[in-house]
Amino acid sequence: MAISDSTIQEIKNRIDIVEVISDFVSLKKVGSNYRALSPFTNEKSPSFYVSPSKDIFKCFSSGKGGDAISFVMEVEGINYIEALKYLANKYGIEVQEEEQTDEQITAQNERDSLFIALKFAGEFFQDVLWNHSEGKSIGLSYFKERGFSEATIKKFDLGYSLDAWDGLMKPALEKGYSEEILEKAGLILNSENKTYDRFRGRVMFPIHNVGGKVIAFGARTLRKDKKQPKYINSPETVVYHKSDIVYGIHQARQAIRNEDLCYLVEGYTDVISMHQSGVQNVVSSSGTSLTKEQIRLIGRYTKNITVLYDGDAAGIKASFRGIDLILEHDLDVHAVVFPEGEDPDSFSRSMSSEAFQQFLKDNAQDFITFKTNILTEGGKNIDPVKKVAVIRDVVESISLIPDGIKRSVYIKSCADLLEIDEQVLISELNKILIKNRKKDKQHDERESAVDEQLANSLQAKQEEQPGYTPFYVERECLRMVINYANEPFDEHQKIGEFILNETVDLKFDDPLINETISKASEFIRAGKKVEPDMFIGPDHPKMSQLVIDLLDMKYFISDGWEELHKISTSHEKEDLPKATYKVILRLKRKKIEEMIHHNEELLKKSSIANEQDELLLMIKHLKTLFDQVTTELGIVVSK
Ligand code: CTP
Ligand code: MN
Repeated sequence: MAISDSTIQEIKNRIDIVEVISDFVSLKKVGSNYRALSPFTNEKSPSFYVSPSKDIFKCFSSGKGGDAISFVMEVEGINYIEALKYLANKYGIEVQEEEQTDEQITAQNERDSLFIALKFAGEFFQDVLWNHSEGKSIGLSYFKERGFSEATIKKFDLGYSLDAWDGLMKPALEKGYSEEILEKAGLILNSENKTYDRFRGRVMFPIHNVGGKVIAFGARTLRKDKKQPKYINSPETVVYHKSDIVYGIHQARQAIRNEDLCYLVEGYTDVISMHQSGVQNVVSSSGTSLTKEQIRLIGRYTKNITVLYDGDAAGIKASFRGIDLILEHDLDVHAVVFPEGEDPDSFSRSMSSEAFQQFLKDNAQDFITFKTNILTEGGKNIDPVKKVAVIRDVVESISLIPDGIKRSVYIKSCADLLEIDEQVLISELNKILIKNRKKDKQHDERESAVDEQLANSLQAKQEEQPGYTPFYVERECLRMVINYANEPFDEHQKIGEFILNETVDLKFDDPLINETISKASEFIRAGKKVEPDMFIGPDHPKMSQLVIDLLDMKYFISDGWEELHKISTSHEKEDLPKATYKVILRLKRKKIEEMIHHNEELLKKSSIANEQDELLLMIKHLKTLFDQVTTELGIVVSK
């Protein structure tokens, strides 16, 4: 099913871009716009802008930009239709669907079918837990024995899978779900031509994506026999990439944002028990070490992670690599260790929620100090050989922190802890930094050799520099149109009209620029105002991106961005007609230059005297023109 045009229109009418984006980043009002730290990069000074009047956002650090819909697509990693549905849901708009073509159905439907099948399975497991005798006597009583309240069990949509080969498969097939889809969703298995349920006789923990859709399950056995794995988890599927998601993010994300902190625990039950203790800003990496995608996911909501360790965690040292990854992403990390034999699940259940929350506050150590203490066994480890290794290891972690000030703070506290001269640590740090920088460079070179896309984007970056790109003047021309078309050029015409008149018989070499300018010309000819959002939309992502790239800061700045970033456009607003005229002259000069070059090439190849004469004359004429334009440009520039 596709969403009907009228629904799309209704959604678009209702969207408030500030409201939509506020669900993901905390926006600060500056002038008539809003600003925030980019959700797409690890920047330290905010360069992510939202313009409510233009209904667009632009992230100057990642270059991303667009409307509210493309923001949701980008930040949630979902497609256009999914983003529309998300927004419809947010604004309580009923989605009217319409028939799709067969092609559209196959293209879009696999993911949707998996979501629907997983939703069905999740509801089925819950139904069994609450209403089926086996579910009640085994599953529900197990959860209750563990101390989970009914509200908690419901909050996490916990369920139970019957101890049968087709407990789920039978009702699912009856409902019309195909074996193929159930298998692709990871719900059933197929071996030697027999199909059967993957999850049997287990309590079920559904795993939700950020938006709350069930994408997978964790399933715990209730049997004591050691042959059974304790947990069985869904396999990777089209909708479930284990390394991209953390358990509990859907239930936790609001609290993480509010508290500006995310607790990280090991398992499903730790997350759930902590919620019951009133700590809702908690997620689990599900027993594996963190990936950078998971860190980025958490980093969308907060820059602070506190890792909670079991009291008997032999795994603390093993976890250090994962923590290094967090440091590298410029998040602040703290650690809390629970008393011997306790984990967040058991410990939170053993005391009042106030006491538990106080414990977390009192016992959080900054990670570098924590790591140093662990490695030196609380300062007892004074064997000089070991000490050297510890220093290396800790300084190695510190070197990963992108922020230089933070690095020096940690170096200082480490020097104190290890009772060693700060200068020694600093020089060790510098050695590592230099080594890593070299590594990075090699890495870049290798990547760009194999990764064409990256190479292209590097080139694109370079081309943004004035003078580098062959299309620079063309881009400049388009930039004037996008930003200033509606401003007056002189008493007869607006800037848009002037540019249009001056360029009617020019062809822009860059096809995308050409296309965008033509589109703008249509609006200008029709007497319409040129607004950036006319060019932004899902039908033409390249044009959207180009226009966003060219959008002037004037849509966003009111507080000194210009001084901060020294952009070349900062003074043009004082005299827009002059700035426009300059751009047109530069464009003309560039075109003349190209023509001279073209004719010179022809001349080289030509062997006919007549033709040569003509070409020479042409070149001479063009050169005079070129000089005229250059002089004119000089006068305009220095005026
Ligand atoms: N885990 C897993 N597969 C396993 C064992 C563990 O995926 N075979 C993951 C689960 O996410 C689990 C976490 O590692 O939640 C921690 O494991 P463990 O402490 O053994 O499980 P708990 O969830 O704490 O379960 P319980 O307290 O019921 O023993
Ligand atoms: Mn446990």
